[in-house]
Amino acid sequence: MKVGVIGSGTMGSGIAQVASTANCKVIVYDVKQEALNKSKTALEKVMNRLVEKGKFGTNRAEEIQNNISYSDQLQSFESCDLVIEAIVENPEVKRNVFTELEGIVSENCIIASNTSSLSIASLAASLKKPERFIGIHFFNPAPLMKLVEVVPAIQTEESVLNKTKETIESWGKVVVQAKDTPGFIVNKVARPFYGEALRILEEGIADVATIDWTMKEIGGFRMGPFELMDFIGNDVNYTVTETVFKAFYYDARYKPAFTQKRLSEAGYLGRKSGRGYYNYAEGASNPKPKQDEALAKMVFNRVLVMLINEAADTLHMNIASAKDIDLAMTNGVNYPKGLLAWANEIGIEKCVTELDSLFNEYHEERYRCSPLLRKMARNGEVFSL
Ligand SMILES: NC(=O)c1ccc[n+]([C@@H]2O[C@H](COP(=O)([O-])OP(=O)(O)OC[C@H]3O[C@@H](n4cnc5c(N)ncnc54)[C@H](O)[C@@H]3O)[C@@H](O)[C@H]2O)c1
Repeated sequence: MKVGVIGSGTMGSGIAQVASTANCKVIVYDVKQEALNKSKTALEKVMNRLVEKGKFGTNRAEEIQNNISYSDQLQSFESCDLVIEAIVENPEVKRNVFTELEGIVSENCIIASNTSSLSIASLAASLKKPERFIGIHFFNPAPLMKLVEVVPAIQTEESVLNKTKETIESWGKVVVQAKDTPGFIVNKVARPFYGEALRILEEGIADVATIDWTMKEIGGFRMGPFELMDFIGNDVNYTVTETVFKAFYYDARYKPAFTQKRLSEAGYLGRKSGRGYYNYAEGASNPKPKQDEALAKMVFNRVLVMLINEAADTLHMNIASAKDIDLAMTNGVNYPKGLLAWANEIGIEKCVTELDSLFNEYHEERYRCSPLLRKMARNGEVFSL
């Protein structure tokens, strides 16, 4: 299979590595020669490291590198079977590239976007044959993250969807299917992990270190929400939240937090700027968690039940299947358990009671219980996974 990748930045380079490792011939195109050079050098470094670690021999490393060619001409995509776009998140720029590309590739070539926040339907509409268009959403770093969300637009033909899923699965990825709705699965369902933690902080219920400690210690999450926001970058995380909030017509559930906006405005972006919720300067002292069991239990239950509610509502709105929602969260953001499996374990009725008590306390929309959870509790049902 011949694969074209448009854009040789972070994601394009990673996707190219994934496809070439799966023995596809790959062409990477970028408007900037310098970006192409950087991508090639980065891959060489990765390959050398993998050889040093004994993952494979030099022959295999060369094979993977030789599978990729680099071009500053879109015309090189002429004989591609699949083209994945991973350029700047600008709808106009993306649409122009797709229109030009369609004049170059064959009738049967599948054209895909790795966009995180644009609607697949709006991008597909830039083509004369929109039924060949689909969303293929990789996670960063693409070679390491197992999950890929495949997102058909309303225009996408069934055969294109099936072929895409089959191809990406053959690249060794865990493929889930999501409806063309804002944030797809992961970037939507994960919002309360940050949002509810921020709310608990803003209300003064617990501090950053205590909330992080709680989620790791009781929940088994690899990183606490604040550590993770610092890792992702507070500017990036804030933008995702704001985008999802606007895209869901200002649904209060996704309301961004002033705390994060201020950090972002101050340049406290997290690890990359040396300071975020924590101070990463050498020798800097950071606050210690308050290891209060009752407080930790309360904080953990509140964040978890909000995550479960979001996952349940995602199923309720048919954005993805129960199985795919759980696979997405365990493989896309490394949650220790699928949220719906977790709900089964805790008991659906208990989740409803917790959500209702939050709603009764605050009378805010963000705490409304998903109708699906309520119905399941009433009927004594569990999620089938
Ligand atoms: N970075 C992430 O964590 C992440 C995760 C999933 C999806 N995405 C999505 O992937 C896409 C790319 O993100 P990224 O982080 O790799 O960006 P990036 O800035 O690292 O790379 C973008 C590349 O596209 C090139 N480019 C810009 N305009 C172009 C054009 N018209 N034609 C050809 N090349 C062009 C740039 O020169 C650059 O090399 C975006 O749509 C983003 O939403 C990003």
